[in-house]
Amino acid sequence: MSKIVLSHIDKFYGDNHVLRDINLTIEDGDFMTLLGPSGCGKTTTLRVVSGLERPQNGVMTIDGEEMINADLAYFAEPSKRGLNLVFQSYALWPHMTVRNNIAFGLKIQKLPRAEVEKRVADSLRMMRIEEYIDRYPNELSGGQQQRVAIARAVASNPKLLLLDEPLSNLDARLRVDMRSELQRIHRELGTTVIYVTHDQVEALTMSTKIALFKAGEISQVATPMDLYMNPIDLEAADFIGNPRINFLEGAGHMDGAKLHVSCELAEYEFDRSDMTEQEIPESGDFPVVVAIRPEQIHLTTEKSTDGIPVKVYANQPAGSETLVSLQGAGGTDFLAKEIGLAQYDIDQTVYAHIAPEKINIYDAKSTRLIKRTR
Ligand SMILES: Nc1ncnc2c1ncn2[C@@H]1O[C@H](COP(=O)(O)OP(=O)(O)O)[C@@H](O)[C@H]1O
Ligand SMILES: [Mg+2]
Repeated sequence: MSKIVLSHIDKFYGDNHVLRDINLTIEDGDFMTLLGPSGCGKTTTLRVVSGLERPQNGVMTIDGEEMINADLAYFAEPSKRGLNLVFQSYALWPHMTVRNNIAFGLKIQKLPRAEVEKRVADSLRMMRIEEYIDRYPNELSGGQQQRVAIARAVASNPKLLLLDEPLSNLDARLRVDMRSELQRIHRELGTTVIYVTHDQVEALTMSTKIALFKAGEISQVATPMDLYMNPIDLEAADFIGNPRINFLEGAGHMDGAKLHVSCELAEYEFDRSDMTEQEIPESGDFPVVVAIRPEQIHLTTEKSTDGIPVKVYANQPAGSETLVSLQGAGGTDFLAKEIGLAQYDIDQTVYAHIAPEKINIYDAKSTRLIKRTR
């Protein structure tokens, strides 16, 4: 059981306001990822939760119990918070074997010997490092040490697991494996996890929820699918997705209950029911940004009624997928992604098919999402 509520958390380092009114609820059993570029405050948030940093303002509760109340200058000791933290720099004890690194904390908890041995074995198996049980940290690679650090945290069976970029030292292949393992560990243990990463793929693949950070603020909290399909502003849209989402300049116009949008590729009409609560001009034209994911652009070589003629600028087949750089009639560049191998000639005319329900529209002035995808 672990529900964490952060309310109005502010953290300053000197004059540097690094967390600005952070409000976040992490439900029991969530795998909540704090995602954002370097320096946006992810680690600081984790350190505030764990008790290593004291915020200047705000309240935090774990299962309803106050752990932080800055107004009352109350900060529960880290050991009272029932959590376990794994840092990007895994601090293993150098003079202890892997077995003892994991067993040490369990022995302090006075767990029976058989239970300690079982937890050591189980956690090593989960992280696929059983064969290193009798090695010392300096006999392990960085990636192996990192996995020992995760195993140690998992073995203590914490009600809250805090992980700060724990896969950063692994090579690409192992990172993919570990994403699966962490997902399974979360499922099997039912532990609430707060996970910090700047890697959107990690965030999208493992989390139940993602809190997207932007310069000390949380700009959006959503499920991975929601965040991917409907990023709340242009910056979020640009950050999520690889290859990047396409942005095209357009003109918006409200006409009764309909939003009309025209851009270089086409003209669209959207219903009120697809629009967000975001305020937009009620009449007249206003600038918008039309945002389309590369995989939502389907290309054909034959002309058809709904196909938009575009020119192939470059073709990048990469085995499992092909990226096609395109140019619209007005010369705007954008990218399409096709599954599998596709072959087009440079400067060939092809026809782009884009389903209107898969297009996002942003208000160019406020940068906020005004029409969402389904
Ligand atoms: N101990 C510290 N003293 C002063 N400034 C710090 C300290 N720790 C972090 N910062 C600053 O706080 C901001 C957020 O840092 P951090 O939370 O580590 O970001 P992230 O983990 O998202 O990369 C950065 O501008 C960083 O320079
Ligand atoms: Mg960090």
